[in-house]
Amino acid sequence: MSSHLRMGMIGGGNGAFIGAVHRMAAALDGQIDLVCGAFSRDHDNCLATGQQLGIAPERCYRDIAALLAGESKRDDRGSDTGSGAQLVSIVTPNHSHVDIAAQAARAGVHVMCDKPAGISLAEVEGLARTLEQTGTHYGLTHTYLGYPMVWQARHIAGSKPFGAIRKVHVQYVQGWLANAAEKDGNKQAAWRTDPALAGPAGALGDIGSHAHSLAEFICNSRMHTLRAHLRRHINSRTLDDDGEILFDLENGATGSLISSQICAGEENGLTIRIYGENAGLEWKQMEPNSLIERRASGEVIVHRAGTDKPLCDAALARCRLPSGHPEGFIEAFANLYRDHARAIQAGTAPARSGVPGIAEALRGMAFLEAAIASSAQGGAPTAIKPPACGPDLKGLLS
Ligand SMILES: NC(=O)c1ccc[n+]([C@@H]2O[C@H](COP(=O)([O-])OP(=O)(O)OC[C@H]3O[C@@H](n4cnc5c(N)ncnc54)[C@H](O)[C@@H]3O)[C@@H](O)[C@H]2O)c1
Repeated sequence: MSSHLRMGMIGGGNGAFIGAVHRMAAALDGQIDLVCGAFSRDHDNCLATGQQLGIAPERCYRDIAALLAGESKRDDRGSDTGSGAQLVSIVTPNHSHVDIAAQAARAGVHVMCDKPAGISLAEVEGLARTLEQTGTHYGLTHTYLGYPMVWQARHIAGSKPFGAIRKVHVQYVQGWLANAAEKDGNKQAAWRTDPALAGPAGALGDIGSHAHSLAEFICNSRMHTLRAHLRRHINSRTLDDDGEILFDLENGATGSLISSQICAGEENGLTIRIYGENAGLEWKQMEPNSLIERRASGEVIVHRAGTDKPLCDAALARCRLPSGHPEGFIEAFANLYRDHARAIQAGTAPARSGVPGIAEALRGMAFLEAAIASSAQGGAPTAIKPPACGPDLKGLLS
């Protein structure tokens, strides 16, 4: 297969948020070419977006079905000299993720999908069965798993000197939904507060899902039981905009998770602290190139990102520049795209790619459903259901 992977994008039309970030990230390593898209449900927007991106009008499609049909006519997708899309990037609101991913997989097209994977565990289990049959790759852009210092944190937290992990505190707080922005024409707020488009979880699905994946990944352990209190501060909403969860991990650690979008003044406040028997770690998404380690001896070490730093191999593989040259959100996304593309081209098993995949998708949806059920029962202890099907639950967990 050629060294370039041909990608289509679903969503990400003019006025959308994350699609443009995906495009920048996919392009960063020169391995992925955007060749087509169904960028918007508004076809004029789709055509205008395509024109700005240099994509021929006949490759700006009305929907995923038209894209797959049109691209399949171009030629053999697997060949070096082909031109049809081999991968689709899904950056639409949550309710459409599974259907688009399943259609792509059935057409033999690989997927990179934004989170959450879908709007119910049952539909993601169906997608897992489809992927088992098609053998196509599926990546889920839990962005924070693309940051080098998150891999360094996992490395230190899993080391003998750190000792057994005892406690985890993760919080993801934003302020942009502190007022009813959905009533003021904010398109991103409108669908996120509509259960038909966002699914049954509000802030928890939007950002709590990232906190869950980050905690499991750094601790290298699955969350199995939780007690949740979810609420909404804006009365006109039906979905949570704020909440707290206490949880247990299979490795014996306990923890807390806060997800809130009504914390006025907060930007993108994702912070995680992990405590072992002999040390603690702290990582903040808004200062992503520093990882603070506090040892019981009193020593405080600030581990810094950079290709010139003594870091574990996995962290170094995700640094692109010497220290002091800030790397962040786009580069983290780019690391996921680069590793996904490499795995597709090498035919590596998806779970070995270092990219969150269907196992993370299943665990994430099971977490959201358990939290909603627990909260509905006043915070009752609730088991996180191990998915009934699909590949083993481990994914990125060893
Ligand atoms: N990983 C992250 O850090 C991160 C950050 C932001 C958003 N997201 C996720 O990305 C997704 C999109 O979020 P957003 O904020 O960019 O939303 P958005 O509203 O800004 O953009 C959605 C786009 O999808 C288009 N669209 C909707 N349905 C479509 C369909 N069926 N076919 C084609 N296009 C369609 C819309 O026209 C729009 O262009 C959501 O699932 C969200 O949870 C992830």
